[in-house]
Amino acid sequence: MTLSLASPHVINLTQIRSEIRDLFPNLVEWRRILHQHPELAFNEYFTASFITEKLTKWGIPHQTNIAQTGIVALIDSGKPGAVLGIRADMDALPIQEENEVSYCSLYEGKMHGCGHDGHTAIALGTAYYLWKNRDRFQGQVKIIFQPAEEGPGGAKPMIEEGVLKNPNLDGIIGLHLWNNLPLGTIGVKNGALMAAVELFECTIFGKGGHGAMPDQTVDAVVVSAQIVNALQTIVSRNVNPLDSAVVTVGSLHAGSTHNVIADTAKMEGTVRYFNPQLDRVIDQRIKDIISGICQAYGASFELKYQQLYPPVINHDKMTELVKSVAMNVLETPAGIVPECQTMGGEDMSFFLQKIPGCYFFVGSANTQKGLDFPHHHPRFNFDETALGIGVEMFVRCVEKFCNS
Ligand code: NI
Repeated sequence: MTLSLASPHVINLTQIRSEIRDLFPNLVEWRRILHQHPELAFNEYFTASFITEKLTKWGIPHQTNIAQTGIVALIDSGKPGAVLGIRADMDALPIQEENEVSYCSLYEGKMHGCGHDGHTAIALGTAYYLWKNRDRFQGQVKIIFQPAEEGPGGAKPMIEEGVLKNPNLDGIIGLHLWNNLPLGTIGVKNGALMAAVELFECTIFGKGGHGAMPDQTVDAVVVSAQIVNALQTIVSRNVNPLDSAVVTVGSLHAGSTHNVIADTAKMEGTVRYFNPQLDRVIDQRIKDIISGICQAYGASFELKYQQLYPPVINHDKMTELVKSVAMNVLETPAGIVPECQTMGGEDMSFFLQKIPGCYFFVGSANTQKGLDFPHHHPRFNFDETALGIGVEMFVRCVEKFCNS
């Protein structure tokens, strides 16, 4: 089969081995079935049974119900060697799909709007290929199908349930299909790739009253306005200018009408940063600023702060491995994009905190085909050619890592 590529980086995909090209129709079929059945975090029951049914049919040993819907398949070459983990996330988003394709979501208000259907299909294809070709590598490969990447995070509970042990992983890799990059490119970068994700919710308690008699009140609108502005000084005045960070107040609600002073205001925001040393720094500044301003204005507050995911930090040697494999798959260094850092977050970070690893992006946008809507958009869709590239990347990483 010839894979056609219509992207700014037109490349020759003969480097995708014929067995994986033969698998391509299956990858597309699996991805489309999964796309029709999107399931939200920790509710990936159809997805899990779809995976389990395939693994069972192929005879691949696996464990189910890890962190509710997670699955781990173990492919043992029977020869001594390293153990590599491959992680794929399985969950979808609460979005009403607006694509007009034959394989549209069958579930109202739910959609695979980030490409995790593709990740699951790639991981299944990788499992199938490696199992059929156990003679071509040494050591063992653990394929981790992870629930709930969006929101609550399935990586941490899977680690707590022991997925990194027995056999112990020596390295771990994972990929994200990426519409910020054109098909035919691979985004790979050592060090910080994606940001830490933290959330906060704050309620300001003032004292309401008549809009014409402000002296009798503590105006929650004025207090919250001061807070929103002052929070912006954390990045500009407390973070080293050579580091990147974001403090965003995304929602602010207060008051009911023009002549009533609001007694409460509620705001919600998110914090992002790459440098792990900023852990607990921004958090503390937010508390100090809110507390100081409230005290100055005679208001009180309640703050809920949640550290969702740490930053995704890639290991140097594992990044080199992925980069060299990408160079072989794409046949050109021009397709390797190191400038792929994003302030988006990913709970792959929990695996990378424990095991040397590399998370990378497989370019999946194809402007000519209209497949270039951003992730989490109701019309997000990707060029399925990237599925074959994903499997080839994983398989080659296994051969190179486990044999070394
Ligand atoms: Ni995603």
